[in-house]
Amino acid sequence: MIKVLINGCNGKMGQEVIKAISNNENFTVLNGVDKEENSDYIFPVYTDVNDIKEKPDVIVDFSVPVATMQILEYAKNNKIPIVIATTGLSEEQKQNIKEYSKVIPVFQSANMSYDINLMKKIVAEVAKNLSGTDIEIIETHHNRKVDAPSGTALLLADSINDALGNSMEYNFNRFQNREKRKKNEIGFSSVRGGNIVGEHTVCFFGENDCLEITHKAYSRGLFAEGALKGAEYIIGKDKGYYTMDDIL
Ligand SMILES: NC(=O)c1ccc[n+]([C@@H]2O[C@H](COP(=O)([O-])OP(=O)(O)OC[C@H]3O[C@@H](n4cnc5c(N)ncnc54)[C@H](O)[C@@H]3O)[C@@H](O)[C@H]2O)c1
Repeated sequence: MIKVLINGCNGKMGQEVIKAISNNENFTVLNGVDKEENSDYIFPVYTDVNDIKEKPDVIVDFSVPVATMQILEYAKNNKIPIVIATTGLSEEQKQNIKEYSKVIPVFQSANMSYDINLMKKIVAEVAKNLSGTDIEIIETHHNRKVDAPSGTALLLADSINDALGNSMEYNFNRFQNREKRKKNEIGFSSVRGGNIVGEHTVCFFGENDCLEITHKAYSRGLFAEGALKGAEYIIGKDKGYYTMDDIL
């Protein structure tokens, strides 16, 4: 039985991970970390990583960037593999995560869904075949999401950019610069409202037509399942940086 520490256990995704584990006989929740205590659980919840008593086999992190960095330090000191799903990380934090992966196994994906990772490959292939089209990414999420654009939108853009030899510039804000779009630009639009789990559309606009590729997530359980797949994958692995591409 794999013993899991959930970082951000009180959050929406923390709850989904608890639910997914309760339906999976390979896993059990050992403990949780969050900024507030919660006595509703049968496992202990810590508000300070320095107080954690039981050592888990793996950490699953769905929290906020500052909490991710705190739990990473705990993971490094205790040699525990970690799955990082938290998004909205700064470039410096992303770089730091790579440094931690030189000491412990780190599995990271801004989107733990298999289909999105497949979409990542598809849009890269389309971009290579539809050169000269205007590429725009539209993402829609619930009204509680704080970061924009979504980590998934960036994941899709990075995949396209890689396929095009890193020749693309990202435009996050058309309001500041009054100028027409550049050919080598990927534009991002973020829509926030209601209870949308996550929708991503990559548009390839030509002169006479437009190809759109869309993914719609209906349930957050999808991401929890993916994170557990990541957890199963990195347990017993050597230190290093792992992503969904390794599983695909
Ligand atoms: N990679 C993926 O597939 C994927 C999917 C869904 C969500 N996410 C990301 O996961 C993160 C969490 O999403 P959510 O919807 O559960 O958000 P949420 O706001 O519901 O939950 C975040 C939790 O982190 C806790 N937290 C805040 N500060 C903390 C601290 N200092 N220490 C410990 N815990 C702290 C909050 O109290 C909260 O319980 C977000 O970054 C979101 O974008 C990733």
